[in-house]
Amino acid sequence: MVVADVNDEAGRAVAESIGGRYVRTDVADPESASALAAAVVDDRGSIDLLVNNAAIYGGMKLDFLITVPWDYYKKFMAVNLDGALNVTRACYPHMTGGGAVVNQSSTAAWLYSGFYGLAKVGINGLTQQLAVELGGQGIRVNAIAPGPIDTEATRSTTPKEMVDDIVGKLPIKRFGTPDDLVGMCLFLLSDEASWITGQIFNVDGGQVIRS
Ligand SMILES: NC(=O)c1ccc[n+]([C@@H]2O[C@H](COP(=O)([O-])OP(=O)(O)OC[C@H]3O[C@@H](n4cnc5c(N)ncnc54)[C@H](O)[C@@H]3O)[C@@H](O)[C@H]2O)c1
Repeated sequence: MVVADVNDEAGRAVAESIGGRYVRTDVADPESASALAAAVVDDRGSIDLLVNNAAIYGGMKLDFLITVPWDYYKKFMAVNLDGALNVTRACYPHMTGGGAVVNQSSTAAWLYSGFYGLAKVGINGLTQQLAVELGGQGIRVNAIAPGPIDTEATRSTTPKEMVDDIVGKLPIKRFGTPDDLVGMCLFLLSDEASWITGQIFNVDGGQVIRS
């Protein structure tokens, strides 16, 4: 298993904890994504599974879509939206035996959250479009849309009163944890989900109920 990030310390620690390898990767940079794919192929011969989780989230600028500095917006979208496309483009030629991709969306796609939410709307669209383009190659593409999850990034980015308010309004009134997402992610990556593609699954305590 290969862990890719721009945060070397955290990326290495995760890779070590799962007995995997860390490859520094900027998901916004096509050359960096290609180098990541090459490193996986070097190790294992091919690529089976890809989780596009990277995003600018912890410590992100809090601003409006209408006023956020243009340079920041462009960089944000290059990572949070184009990053998933870029890494998928680098990896899919090596998914020679078919495979599965899981993109990390968010309930922010259906709620007001400015440019962060806009990028997640894009992730949902990307998931649907790529599912069609890659289905013929036996590659499934799905997304998970988590609700509020208790990570360091949420704690540093969202004021506690705001989190308490959001959690208080959930049908299931507790803060989600990263563990809440594991089952859905493993299911979507597994053969159990072999006839599921192009879908966005909310794992969110009922924050967004879609018809
Ligand atoms: N925590 C939540 O409540 C929540 C809810 C819904 C969705 N999400 C999504 O889940 C994912 C993880 O969130 P998190 O809470 O762990 O936040 P986080 O900020 O800790 O995780 C994002 C990771 O992406 C990495 N990253 C940033 N820019 C990068 C780049 N250019 N190339 C490669 N890696 C880069 C960061 O270093 C970090 O490790 C994100 O996509 C986030 O949008 C989080």
